[in-house]
Amino acid sequence: MPLYGIPLARRLGVPETDCLTIVAGESSKTRSEWARLTDLMLERGFGRDSVVVAVGGGVVGDLAGFVAATYMRGVPVIQVPTTLLAMIDASIGGKTGVDTDAGKNLVGAFHEPVLVLADLPVLRTLPPAEFRAGLAEALKHGLITSTGELDWLLANAAALARLELPALRELVRRHVAIKVRVVKRDMHEAGVRKTLNFGHTIGHAIESVSNYAMLHGECVAIGMLAEARIASAMRIAAPSLVDRVRAALDALGLPSSVPRQMASDTILAATRTDKKARAGAVEYALLADVGQIAAADSGYGTSVPDSVVVDALNASR
Ligand code: GLY
Repeated sequence: MPLYGIPLARRLGVPETDCLTIVAGESSKTRSEWARLTDLMLERGFGRDSVVVAVGGGVVGDLAGFVAATYMRGVPVIQVPTTLLAMIDASIGGKTGVDTDAGKNLVGAFHEPVLVLADLPVLRTLPPAEFRAGLAEALKHGLITSTGELDWLLANAAALARLELPALRELVRRHVAIKVRVVKRDMHEAGVRKTLNFGHTIGHAIESVSNYAMLHGECVAIGMLAEARIASAMRIAAPSLVDRVRAALDALGLPSSVPRQMASDTILAATRTDKKARAGAVEYALLADVGQIAAADSGYGTSVPDSVVVDALNASR
């Protein structure tokens, strides 16, 4: 906010008093923050003709989007993502919401932005770990889409690490297109949108066990390798998929190991609160190969025996 929010408000002619801020980090994505922001808007007399402009990363986008989705039964939201993760993933597709003690993103709404505005040079002010965490979602997109997309990402890893603008522009262009393509086919995640959850069943569980101390993208990175191991153990994918995912994580400087202090049983228990559970059974979006999600003919969700999950987590240490 201090970096971009106030200057942007000035450029738009919006009084600084209309800028509402939150403490950075996942701990702000709560119902009490939603209530605080909504109450401030009501106190300040914002009407149904208001527009919420969400300037920040995924947390800001999700929370401000949820405020917009519910304020006076819904006002428009403009997403101005300032992190790589928010540019290529969180700002697109209308998922908004907050976390609860029971798990991540469990209360929310689909509320599509009227505009997404990504200004690439802001990526140069991101802490390196935040930038890398965004690359985890780019890797997910590559792995679920095609060998061509995966190869492009890996071939450009060095230029991206140097934050070269042409590479960043092409990265964001490709990955916004991937996300838009999926969301257009299945806005409400009844089918193909579930493929965007690859790495996320384990990833969200690790994130929640870490008490959100770990970045979302780091947890998804670890989750992708563990879920590749699950697919291999269930003979859905060849063992070589595990090597390919690990090599890609290494090339992008992403973590692949489950933190030693996190017990596998605790992570397994945390998967049960995931939104992806259906009729009590946890669903995984598993890869059969690069560009090929398993169970396409039965809704893209695969249930996995607990022992396979625990073995995959133990092997990821
Ligand atoms: N981040 C996954 C989705 O938007 O569906």
